[in-house]
Amino acid sequence: PRPIGVAVLGMGNVGTEVVRVLTDKAADLQARVGAPVVLRGVSVRDLSRPRGNVDSAVLTDDPASLVTRDDVDIVVELIGGIEPPRTLIRTALQAGKSVVTANKALMAVHSGELSEAAAGSNVDLYFEAAVAGAIPVIRPLIQSLAGDTVNRVAGIVNGTTNFILSEMDETGADYDEVLAEAGRLGYAEADPTADVEGHDAAAKAAILASIAFHSRVTANDVYCEGITAITSDDLAAAKKFDCTVKLLAICERIDADGAERISARVYPALIPFEHPLATVNGAFNAVVVEAENAGRLMFYGQGAGGAPTASAVTGDLVMAARNRVLGGRGPLESTYASLPVAPIDDV
Ligand code: HSE
Repeated sequence: PRPIGVAVLGMGNVGTEVVRVLTDKAADLQARVGAPVVLRGVSVRDLSRPRGNVDSAVLTDDPASLVTRDDVDIVVELIGGIEPPRTLIRTALQAGKSVVTANKALMAVHSGELSEAAAGSNVDLYFEAAVAGAIPVIRPLIQSLAGDTVNRVAGIVNGTTNFILSEMDETGADYDEVLAEAGRLGYAEADPTADVEGHDAAAKAAILASIAFHSRVTANDVYCEGITAITSDDLAAAKKFDCTVKLLAICERIDADGAERISARVYPALIPFEHPLATVNGAFNAVVVEAENAGRLMFYGQGAGGAPTASAVTGDLVMAARNRVLGGRGPLESTYASLPVAPIDDV
């Protein structure tokens, strides 16, 4: 069968791991996809930096040159931020390429226009890695729960802040010191402000709310409060009440004066020790989904870091590649805006 060509845009923590898996596990991936999966190009910011075993012939500092190439079937976007990823992804979709992205900031604001571009081109747009790293939560919401009614999605979706709060709680360590460690371990965003101010979690809440409630919720609709004001004293005080502090993202259907609305919010909350979320420590994430017929489901695992996030990316890549081989596309995110978002002030 014809090989499936892949372009990886961005070679940071996650991109490096994705390229490693594509190289080291080529035979396994070929067996699962039903065709060889071939790395056609990798875009990097700095061509002069050494890139380990990566063949220098596939490296470029011009991502735009990769996204419309005839021998590229799937574009994996791991650059992060809004531009240039937004334009690159739109161009790729319009050129008939399937796209896999881990970009929560982008999907939290522009998923509507990108999903429409994908629908118009009959290609896949997958983003499992955008929320909660390795944890499969996007695909279960879109596919497994497609016949159910989800009423609530809530949990811990930022590894950096959970790492900081757990370390401060367990060791009494200093905030700045733990934040620096989260950066070294590859959990934090390039600009960790997005983590500690809650914006990263708010982006993920917007994505979760959109797919869970078949609506369009953007990061701007999410009430957002981070952890920068939390001190070791707060954690010690919480302990006296048998509680810990966790940064929660909560998305739910609410009744606002008789009208059904979506509410999405991120804030540090007191969690009693006996609650399952209280035991989620380090860079781990957990997402609890409540659906009418399924009842309560809990998803737990590594929510940040290069290898765990690359697991979700390569899973999407295999699915998209398989769809190519079979000549179709996977299930779509349903994108009708059926439920309005409650104004943030009402929450
Ligand atoms: N900075 C993010 C986090 C990475 O700490 O959770 C995963 O999205």
